[in-house]
Amino acid sequence: MPIRIAILGDIVGAPGRQAAASAAKTLREQHGAQVVLANAENAADGSGLTPTLYNKLKDAGLSGMTLGDHAFRKNQIYATLDSADDLIRPLNLPPKARGRGVMTIHATDDAGKPCAVRVITLIGQLFMTNMRGSDMFKAIDEVLSKPPPSSGADLPTITLVEVHAEATSEKIAMGWHLSGRVAGVFGTHTHVPTADARLLPPPNAEDLSIPGEPWVGSGRTAYVTDLGMTGPYDSVLGRRADRVVKHLATGMPTAFDVAEGNARACGVLITADPKSGLATAIERIEIAA
Ligand SMILES: [Fe+2]
Ligand SMILES: [Fe+2]
Repeated sequence: MPIRIAILGDIVGAPGRQAAASAAKTLREQHGAQVVLANAENAADGSGLTPTLYNKLKDAGLSGMTLGDHAFRKNQIYATLDSADDLIRPLNLPPKARGRGVMTIHATDDAGKPCAVRVITLIGQLFMTNMRGSDMFKAIDEVLSKPPPSSGADLPTITLVEVHAEATSEKIAMGWHLSGRVAGVFGTHTHVPTADARLLPPPNAEDLSIPGEPWVGSGRTAYVTDLGMTGPYDSVLGRRADRVVKHLATGMPTAFDVAEGNARACGVLITADPKSGLATAIERIEIAA
């Protein structure tokens, strides 16, 4: 039986936290989401995450959180990064970086059967100045070459891969690289939602379908280039527009405070089949706070 997994883009500041909390409730109660994930790298005043805010977001209904290039901005989170099994930072970092890059969330499908949702976050290499990641293709191939830990417990596993990157090309390339191998590939970091949510055709589609007919298999890989942020949309990427405009127009420094207006949660809702480990639907979501 299917399972629905909602994923929200970068939570920015207090407006983003409020939007994430109300969206988590709506997604669970009205959209049937069994799992709600979010990138929380901008949750603490627009930069990083603290243990207090991590706990509050968990209490608000998030099943797990990911972090991108702002993962280490607040050093209070380091111990939580090491100990929590539902919080990850990018996988492709030096071995001594704090925390981990893979998490497994336990869930149940529509029939109440247990399954596992494995989430991996990767950091892109193009135009990323805050954090230097290693080859993300090599890193994800190493993870996928081994059976997931949950398979030891006989749990069907759905794997989702986040690409936290600036370049659309890098994210799209990863979508094709993992097509047919994971249930979903989704981008974060730009804070701007893209209109390309789709199910990628499997790489061997021609072997499985009648030429000219749509492929009808047990699932595909759900893909979107960027979820968009969960935060104030009357802003420049979550920061007060007047301050950013002043800075860009004058060249003079200004304080990039988090904005307040038009808070909304953006992301996708993926329907996946735990048996095949692939997706059967993806839809874009945008929920006003
Ligand atoms: Fe972000
Ligand atoms: Fe980022």
